[in-house]
Amino acid sequence: MTNSSIRGLHHITLCTSTGQGDVDFFVKVIGQRFIKRTLFYDGHIPIYHLYFSDEAGTPGTVMTTFPLRRTKLTGRKGSGQFTAVAYSVPAGSLDFWREHFRKNKVEIAGESERFGERYIRVVHAGIDFEIVEDRTDTRKPWKSDYVPEQYAVRGFHNWTATVREAGDMDVFMQQAWNFRPTMHDGKFTRYETEEGGAGRRIDILHDTELRQGSWTLGQGIVHHGAFDVPDYDTQARIKFEAEGMGFTDFSDRKNRGYFESVYVRTPGGVMFEATKSLGFKMDEEEALLGTELKIAPQLDASRAQILELMEREDPIHV
Ligand SMILES: [Fe+2]
Repeated sequence: MTNSSIRGLHHITLCTSTGQGDVDFFVKVIGQRFIKRTLFYDGHIPIYHLYFSDEAGTPGTVMTTFPLRRTKLTGRKGSGQFTAVAYSVPAGSLDFWREHFRKNKVEIAGESERFGERYIRVVHAGIDFEIVEDRTDTRKPWKSDYVPEQYAVRGFHNWTATVREAGDMDVFMQQAWNFRPTMHDGKFTRYETEEGGAGRRIDILHDTELRQGSWTLGQGIVHHGAFDVPDYDTQARIKFEAEGMGFTDFSDRKNRGYFESVYVRTPGGVMFEATKSLGFKMDEEEALLGTELKIAPQLDASRAQILELMEREDPIHV
């Protein structure tokens, strides 16, 4: 029996538009490392699954995308979803970021303050991203060719989940997911796990008016957020105990190549994942991470056929 639990954020997975659009935004604007290119592990249609992170793919820095334009499916934003992804940057960086977005023709959609912290908001592929100054975040940034180290993103600051009913979600966050409420600001409640801070926070936005967002894979929505667990015993215990509380919408454990995951539909409708990292170096050397397409195991077409198809349907040039 283990007493360990969820340790913080691991990765967040978005339904975007094109692979090239994601590389341009996450590598050239946000300044992350393009650490892995693979294909979606579910279904028979080859769709890219792209990963962007710090140098090593450290939990709490990993952005992943399904570029879905070739499916022609569009998602409906709404409650029951993660609705914003915030990256932390050092205090005093916002002037750089305003200019950096301007130079890269990314429009600033808004600036605001929440929990006493200043945010710049931008939109990519229909999804909201925030850049937040956080003087307490000491994580080491990826040495990007596009963003100087002194201003670089350190990883996720928080993710915002929007729900119509806050009560059941509060029970889930505290009793099933090891997060505690630490602050309130208007309709936002901040939840933190372990010692809290950047990478260990979720902001829940309680919006009783917002319609339910879609759960299907479709462009323009966040699909799910994944949380870091230290080992399989902890993952199994979290699922077992949450099911004992009545939160029974869990998947079995799934092998995702670079981690093993269970998924749960939370009471607010937002999909959470509890994931055990296996690392990104199992099939590529450190220096070559993200350079070669790794074909998902369920796809039975030949490698040459898939490479040709993806180059035609969703070309990526770094
Ligand atoms: Fe995931």
